[in-house]
Amino acid sequence: MPENSVGDKGVRGMDRMSVEALREAVAGRGLLVAIDGPSGSGKSTVSKRIAADLNLAFLETGAMYRALTWLCMSNEVDLGNPEAVLKLADELEFSSVGTVAEPKFLVGDEDVTEALRSVEVAAAVSVVAGYIPVRNWMANSQRREMLKAKETGRGMIAEGRDITTVVCPDADVRILLLADSEARLKRRVLETYGKVTPELLDATRELVSGRDATDSLVSSFLEPAPGVIPIDSSNLSIEGVVDSVFDQVVDWLKSEGQGRA
Ligand code: DC
Repeated sequence: MPENSVGDKGVRGMDRMSVEALREAVAGRGLLVAIDGPSGSGKSTVSKRIAADLNLAFLETGAMYRALTWLCMSNEVDLGNPEAVLKLADELEFSSVGTVAEPKFLVGDEDVTEALRSVEVAAAVSVVAGYIPVRNWMANSQRREMLKAKETGRGMIAEGRDITTVVCPDADVRILLLADSEARLKRRVLETYGKVTPELLDATRELVSGRDATDSLVSSFLEPAPGVIPIDSSNLSIEGVVDSVFDQVVDWLKSEGQGRA
């Protein structure tokens, strides 16, 4: 089977619509895909795959919260002071360069890709993400990016915690990606340390569950909002999740009168 064919699974298979055909069908249409989910649900990996397959721009909103957290820490700004944090948000020059598969995150000219993954930033980011004025600032900026991508026809996939509900409730495809807590913990450990050991699992368990609990206070990403499609990735491969999202893209094309039966 060629790399990018779907075999007999999912709507792509049902419709005999290859990834290439799907990419062509969405080209220039400004498709907006919103994916939310908790830490370790696999939304980043899945979103990168979909962005690459369908040639969509990719927005990793968690990286923006992490970049602001990093900027506050680098400037020794008191994270307990919401006004000071918001002031730095106005000065945040965040950008993403490189490929979708291997994005490099910049703040100003500085490459902060590694720093954003650090345990220090991960431990502090929930505080920053908990401030409502900071969230409003982020949501406005993220929505602007998404609408720009719609207007230009490029389209975008954006992932985070509040994209389907706050940032872009009018996105064409809205998905909530869920997974059981042990599956999520394993993915997080692998992403952070490049390997999974019982010690690393134990060391990370509290950080992840604590962060989920804190994050849940300000955005609701454990239950799908009306119209949002839940996908449980616990027992699905990346391919399986990507297929399920493509099903929704095909449905959107059909609803737009452009799908192939
Ligand atoms: O997805 P992530 O782990 O990189 O997210 C980092 C933090 O930012 C996490 O604590 C949740 C928060 N976040 C958020 O509140 N809203 C978003 N849209 C994205 C991330």
